[in-house]
Amino acid sequence: MGEPVHEIKLVGLVGSLRAESLNGMLMRAALTRLPRGTELDVLGDLDQLPFYNQDVEHEPHHVVDRLREHVDEADGVLIATPEYNYGVPGVLKNAVDWLSRPMGRAALKSKPVAVMGASPSNFGSVRAQLALRQNLLGADARPMAKPEYILSRAKSAFDIDGEMVDDTSSDLLIKFLEAFSAQIEA
Ligand code: FNR
Repeated sequence: MGEPVHEIKLVGLVGSLRAESLNGMLMRAALTRLPRGTELDVLGDLDQLPFYNQDVEHEPHHVVDRLREHVDEADGVLIATPEYNYGVPGVLKNAVDWLSRPMGRAALKSKPVAVMGASPSNFGSVRAQLALRQNLLGADARPMAKPEYILSRAKSAFDIDGEMVDDTSSDLLIKFLEAFSAQIEA
């Protein structure tokens, strides 16, 4: 038996820069719960992106080029977003803005995107997820409508090493990732 063939390539974006990020933990949990035949490459340099500037849209910083290439080559994008002040964290919105241009051949155009998010509050990032879906529609991406993955009271889902230990959260994450891969395949 050879190596399994990866048929679906996802890139992962995390909208939090902090080391102990719950959304980073959620993305790491996704890495070990992928359906067979799906691979996930989590991109870690959103803090290296300059602020979006239309003046340099066609000759951007090499970090922007690299991000665009990764997303271009992927079959889908998986995003874990925190909620900041009922909205999308700036680093993530900045990445979406870069990926939404140049118009007509943007990396996000027609790209399947699955949005998930975690928060210590009861709202589980749902308002940020709604805002991000709007942004993605504006970028002409294809955000998955259902299922949703909203991890409220997220601290209790992970142990002190950041491993997802809550069975219900884990089962729902597996189903969410399966649904995303199935929608990409369809
Ligand atoms: C927050 N937090 C937060 N939580 C929430 O449920 N709704 C909100 O509107 C906000 N607003 C907000 C603004 C700012 C500036 C910060 C720093 C935090 C709390 C937030 O959910 C919590 O810090 C998460 O742990 C952040 O995600 P990561 O970094 O753990 O992935």
